[in-house]
Amino acid sequence: MVKICCIGAGYVGGPTMAVIALKCPSIEVAVVDISVSRIAAWNSDQLPIYEPGLDGVVKQCRGKNLFFSTDVEKHVCEADIVFVSVNTPTKTRGLGAGKAADLTYWESAARMIADVSKSDKIVVEKSTVPVKTAEAIEKILTHNGKGIKFQILSNPEFLAEGTAIQDLFEPDRVLIGGRETPEGQKAIQALKNVYAHWVPEGRILTTNLWSAELSKLAANAFLAQRISSVNAMSALCEATGANIQQVSYAVGKDSRIGPKFLNASVGFGGSCFQKDILNLVYICECNGLPEVAEYWKQVIKINDYQKSRFVNRVVASMFNTVANKKIAILGFAFKKDTGDTRETPAIDVCKGLLGDKARLSIYDPQVTEDQIQRDLTMNKFDWDHPIHLQPMSPSTVKQVSVTWDAYESTKDAHGICILTEWDEFRTLDYQRIYDNMQKPAFVFDGRNIVAADKLREIGFIVYSIGKPLDPWLKDMPAVA
Ligand code: UDX
Ligand code: UDX
Ligand code: ADP
Repeated sequence: MVKICCIGAGYVGGPTMAVIALKCPSIEVAVVDISVSRIAAWNSDQLPIYEPGLDGVVKQCRGKNLFFSTDVEKHVCEADIVFVSVNTPTKTRGLGAGKAADLTYWESAARMIADVSKSDKIVVEKSTVPVKTAEAIEKILTHNGKGIKFQILSNPEFLAEGTAIQDLFEPDRVLIGGRETPEGQKAIQALKNVYAHWVPEGRILTTNLWSAELSKLAANAFLAQRISSVNAMSALCEATGANIQQVSYAVGKDSRIGPKFLNASVGFGGSCFQKDILNLVYICECNGLPEVAEYWKQVIKINDYQKSRFVNRVVASMFNTVANKKIAILGFAFKKDTGDTRETPAIDVCKGLLGDKARLSIYDPQVTEDQIQRDLTMNKFDWDHPIHLQPMSPSTVKQVSVTWDAYESTKDAHGICILTEWDEFRTLDYQRIYDNMQKPAFVFDGRNIVAADKLREIGFIVYSIGKPLDPWLKDMPAVA
């Protein structure tokens, strides 16, 4: 029986290993983590992450060929294949602060693998890492490995949160990079055999190590670039009277461009896009390619611009002040069907509104009050000027309340900001909401999910990203 161990029971490691266990009954999969509470949650009925379909997969395999444990060393020692799926945040201090990936967790995992291994192993890079990390890890392993042979593979994960299970069941592709030596090729084949249990052969791509590492950064950069492109167009649409949804549809009909990932929004979020682009920018700078670095930086700059443009629009529409006005925030997660708030645009939008002294009442069906308070008090890292900005003062935090009900959140509010595209926001009783709000009542739809015409009939003043502006909004000062 092949034994797999995955270090890191997070958003990537947990679902990926659960699906491997489900699809490969002959393989024993152990997911290990240093976080006792995370492992306890994986072993309970309340999994630590919300992901549609995940519960069912875990229930089918847990205790059979899928195990969650804090006994990291034991499981690493026993495994034939070790996946490393630990977090790689952006460095917050020292060389490359604000851009480079922080590989502390990776390095300590690698040293531990070298330490406890008693047999040859394949070590698989699963978390996104800077190009050539595999080479560094290889050095740590071979210099500390007491003669044990390690083969390093890069097998980046392309799943998106909210659709992780579906993405894992039917991936567009599985990418495996390895050394171009006979041993490297043998290791690639061993990992290919795992995926071949359910992924068609033609979708398993093999490359050299660095191509695999770079492909992941490139794919995320291209995806983020599409959103920044469409968001940049959304600003122009508002200025000219064009409609971004019509433009996106027409543009996406070109088969060379394609229809997906062209939804204008209040900005992209998530743990990957910004981090991976920053990482790409840093790698370009380190390789003497400032023009290329500058090109990719723009993707993030437009994303920041889109978030502040949204805040400015809200404030400008409401007579240039939101001081002490209650604003309902519908949605805090970075996208629907997840409780994840990492880099969510809601953080910057809320902070912007708080900066103008608004009172916020936040509702998200999957995000807890604790999480929201943590996110809003966290230091934001400014990557061009790596100094810590001040955290919010406790008095500002008092301006924030969190509810578990959209109607409660919108009651007596002056305006509503829709920041996550949760399906339930499409079908709220907006007449009831309108009746309970201050007038004039505003809706700022950062995801283009509500039927603006119907809301206008009720009496709302509606702003939809990238759509022709209501006469009311047109009369307000221009928003840059
Ligand atoms: C992304 C990649 O899609 C995935 O392949 C990679 O493995 C990890 O990073 P994820 O961040 O989970 O996945 O979600 P994704 O669906 O890509 O959305 C990222 C952000 O872009 C979200 O904030 C989403 O709302 C936003 N988005 C997406 C848009 O604003 N418009 C779109 O058209 C699509
Ligand atoms: C383009 C658009 O494709 C077409 O829809 C529009 O109506 C007019 O402009 P055209 O300029 O004739 O058409 O040719 P196109 O095939 O788009 O190529 C434009 C340039 O891009 C060429 O120099 C081509 O060599 C280059 N190109 C294209 C690349 O460098 N790489 C590619 O992958 C594709
Ligand atoms: P991702 O979104 O990439 O999956 P997460 O932050 O959700 O990232 O998960 C990474 C996990 O890795 C965390 O649960 C963290 O506790 C775990 N981790 C980090 N370093 C180690 C380590 N040395 N050994 C075991 N687990 C680790």
